[in-house]
Amino acid sequence: MCGIIGHIGRNDCVALLVEGLRRLEYRGYDSAGIAVVSEDKIEVRRCQGKLVQLETLLRDEPVQGLVGIGHTRWATHGPPSDINAHPHKIGPIAVVHNGIIENYLPLKRQLLEMGCQIHSETDTEIVAQLINNQVEAGASFEEAVTESLQVIEGSYALVILNEREPDKLIAVRKESPLVLGLASDAFLVASDIPAILGHTREVIFLEDGEMAILSEDSFEVRGADGETREKEVSHITWNPVMAEKAGYTHFMEKEIYEQPRAVIDTFRGRISESSGEVFLDDTNLGDDLIQSLNKIVIVACGTSYHAGLVGKFLLETFCGLPVEVDLGSEFRYRDPIINSQTLQILISQSGETADTLAAMREGSKKGAFLLAISNVVGSSLVRQSDGVLYTHAGPEIGVASTKAFTTQLVALYLLSLYIGIKLGKISLKESQECILELVKLPKKMEAALGEDQLIRAIAREYANARDFLYLGRGINYPIALEGALKLKEISYIHAEGYAAGEMKHGPIALIDEHMPVVAVVSRGLTFEKMLSNMEEVKARQGKIIAVSDNGGEELLDKVDAHIPVPATTPFLAPILFTIPMQLLAYHVAVFRGTDVDQPRNLAKSVTVE
Ligand code: AGP
Repeated sequence: MCGIIGHIGRNDCVALLVEGLRRLEYRGYDSAGIAVVSEDKIEVRRCQGKLVQLETLLRDEPVQGLVGIGHTRWATHGPPSDINAHPHKIGPIAVVHNGIIENYLPLKRQLLEMGCQIHSETDTEIVAQLINNQVEAGASFEEAVTESLQVIEGSYALVILNEREPDKLIAVRKESPLVLGLASDAFLVASDIPAILGHTREVIFLEDGEMAILSEDSFEVRGADGETREKEVSHITWNPVMAEKAGYTHFMEKEIYEQPRAVIDTFRGRISESSGEVFLDDTNLGDDLIQSLNKIVIVACGTSYHAGLVGKFLLETFCGLPVEVDLGSEFRYRDPIINSQTLQILISQSGETADTLAAMREGSKKGAFLLAISNVVGSSLVRQSDGVLYTHAGPEIGVASTKAFTTQLVALYLLSLYIGIKLGKISLKESQECILELVKLPKKMEAALGEDQLIRAIAREYANARDFLYLGRGINYPIALEGALKLKEISYIHAEGYAAGEMKHGPIALIDEHMPVVAVVSRGLTFEKMLSNMEEVKARQGKIIAVSDNGGEELLDKVDAHIPVPATTPFLAPILFTIPMQLLAYHVAVFRGTDVDQPRNLAKSVTVE
C-alpha cells in the first residue's frame, strides 16, 4: 500500500520523482524517499512524514541524477520512521517496494544467520539484502533480481537500482500494480498513471511475474520464463489537469463537483435515447450466459460495497434475479454457494483492493462469471475478470470516495437495464423511460450541488457534535450508510448509518438533544414510514437534518434543517441523495480542520488484506 516511481532518461529526475510522489501520496503518506544515481553512486534521501518533509530534506541536502526511484509509504511492517522509509539501500542495491513479503521473517532469520546486518523493521529491506547477496556472489543485475524473487512469497511491485550497473533500472511486479511510461526523453515506471501523466500518455501495464529492464534509450519486458515479451502500448486519455485540484481547496471537493461530468462520461456511448437499448459490450455478457444465470453475487469493500447494496435493488427489480451482496473480507472466508450459473460482480474504484481481489479468486475457482466494475483501466481486478464495466470517473485522488461511488451507481443502473432487457424482464419502451431519466440526471446533480452554501451553514452548526445518526429506507438505506462512512472517515466524528425501521430496536436509546440525525427521506413507498421515524427522533429531542425530494409541510414541520434535492425516479434518487451527504461530511471536516484528502490511518487503495 505505497506509491512508487522510477525514471531513467536524459534529464535530471529529482523534481520529476517528487512531483510523481505527490500524485501518489493518496496511496500512503507516512514517509517518503528517493534514491538517485549521482556520479555512479546511489544517493538516498528519505524521512518520516509527508512529502513536504522530504522536500525540505532535499533543499538541505540536494541531489541530482538521470536515474532514480521514489517511494511514498503506508506502513505495514515497522512503524513510520526514517529508517523504515524507502528506498532501502544495501551495498550497491537500492529498492522501493509496494506490497507485502509474507515470508520475510524466515528470510530475515536466514540472513541474520549468514551474518547480514539488518537495519530496518521492514519486509522490503529483506529484498534488498537478497539481491545484494546475489550481486556480491557474482550475478548480473537481472540474474540477482530473478534469483531473489524465487524465494520471495507475497505481493510486490519493486523498482530497483544497482550502483554497479548504474545505467539500468529494473521493475518487477506480482499482485501489486506497476505501469511503464514511454516519454520522448525518458522511461518511467509508477504504481499508477497520474504519477507520470505529465510526461507521457503512452503506457504499458506490467503483468504479474513480468520484469521490465529499462535503460536510457531502450526497454525490455520479460515474462516469468525469462523470454522477451511484446507488450501492447495503451494510450491514456486522462488530461494531466484532471489529476490536479483545478482551483478547489481539496481533491475531495473537486471530485464532488466533477460528478455530473463523471456521470455523463459513464453513460455516454452506452445508451440509445431513441431505442432504449443499452450497449455494454466489454462486459462480455453473452445472451447464453445471461439466460443461464440463476443468481448474482456482488462483492466489494467500503463505499463500493454500499454501491453494491444499491445495485441489489436495481438488479432484482430490473432483472428478477436473486442478488446477494457481500464484503470482500467476509466472502472469501465462508464457502459461498456459487457456480457457473452465477454472475459475480466485483466493484472496486481502484481495482486493487486486496479483499475484493481475493473474493474474485474465490469466485473464479468456483466457476462464476466475473464482471469487474472499476474506475482504473488495466487494474488487477480488470485484468483477472471475464468482463469489465468501466466507470469513467477519472482519477479519484481524495481518499474519501465520491465520484467513484455515484458513477458505480450509474454503471449498476446500466447493467440492470442491459440484463433486464436481455431476460425480457423489461421492455425497450420501459428501458427508454429509464434512459431518459438518466440523461436528465446530471442537470439535477448540478442543482443538488447548488445547495452547497446551505449545507455549509448546517455543517457549521453541527461541526462540534460528538455523534451522528444517519437513517434511510429501502434503496436509500445504503445512502445512509455511505453518509455515515463519509462523515467518520474525514471528520473523525462517530457516525452510524441505520435502516430507519431498525432504530426502535436499539439506536433510539442514543437519541437526545445532542444527537443530529440525518434522514434520507424519499417521496414514494416509504415516505410516511420515514415521517413516523422522524417523529420518534423529535419526541426525544433529537435534531433532524432531512435530505429530501419532498419539501411538503408534513416534512418541514418535523425538521431542524431541510436540504432539498430534485425529484427523479426512485432508482436514480440514491445518486442525488448522495451529494448532500458528501458535502455535509466535507464541510464538517473543513470546520474541524482535519486532513480532508488524506485522513489519518487511511489509504486510498487498500492493497493488503
Ligand atoms: C471510501 O470513502 C473509502 N475510502 C473506502 O471505503 C473504499 O471505498 C474501499 O477501500 C474500497 O476501495 P475500492 O473501491 O478501490 O475497492
